[in-house]
Amino acid sequence: MLVSAKEMLQKAHEGKYAVGQFNINNLEWTKAILLTAEENKSPVILGVSEGAAKYMGGWDTVVGMVNGLLKGLKITVPVALHIDHGSFEGAKAAMAAGFSSIMFDGSHYPIDENIQKTTEIISEATAKGISVEAEVGAIGGEEDGVVGGGEVADPNECKMIADLGVTMLAAGIGNIHGKYPANWKGLNFEVLAEIEKKVPGVPLVLHGGTGIPADMIQKAISLGVSKINVNTECQLSFAAATRKYIEAGKDLEGKGFDPRKLLAPGFEAIKATVKEKMELFGSVNKA
Ligand code: 13P
Repeated sequence: MLVSAKEMLQKAHEGKYAVGQFNINNLEWTKAILLTAEENKSPVILGVSEGAAKYMGGWDTVVGMVNGLLKGLKITVPVALHIDHGSFEGAKAAMAAGFSSIMFDGSHYPIDENIQKTTEIISEATAKGISVEAEVGAIGGEEDGVVGGGEVADPNECKMIADLGVTMLAAGIGNIHGKYPANWKGLNFEVLAEIEKKVPGVPLVLHGGTGIPADMIQKAISLGVSKINVNTECQLSFAAATRKYIEAGKDLEGKGFDPRKLLAPGFEAIKATVKEKMELFGSVNKA
């Protein structure tokens, strides 16, 4: 059964580790992440962007697929199904379909409007036992057509949004989606420390987990980050393994064209990436 992300993130915050949010794109992705979480006894959050939900056939398809896999694969670790960077309408649609956790990203609105919309989302979600992530200070880079400028959040605005009763808070600290450019200045730990002081006890969320060096991840966790989002890295691992299979001509050998064979190396590559992240985040054996 799907669970809200609240308890797993509070435990992570207290225990100084982070739970990974891994974005899903299809059945192989979802199965790979769930099986890795189960094998490593780690809690996990499945992230679904609005673009990915549309690609998979809509919110109901995603909920049906994930619930089916939890049962069919006998998954016992805590799993939250979470909309990633939800719009106001998207967050409501995901809640109606059965998502157990939502992100409402109002970071591109003026702060007053972000507060007003986040308040409305929280009241509906709380009544249904659904966890809520809000965002202050847009995350840089591009994800599914949502482009952010890599802002650094204002710690006072973080407090205003956190005080509305969010479960977890995403704050821009120089992180961006996708690969980091060679001239990236790194995470802004001064601002992260200020935010942590303003909102003690609130699990913080680090987006753009792909390519952040291990030492920065560990420092971020020590400063209150309890949820780390990873998307691009699984896509890169999947693509590289699939490329290798095809370039080696394996799809032309015997029944190598069978999708269950063709997609197997990519599936195993996602599993390896997710395991590596769970070990780095410290969530192994925390289920
Ligand atoms: P990456 O694609 O950079 O890993 O970012 C994922 C993310 O933050 C999803 O919201």
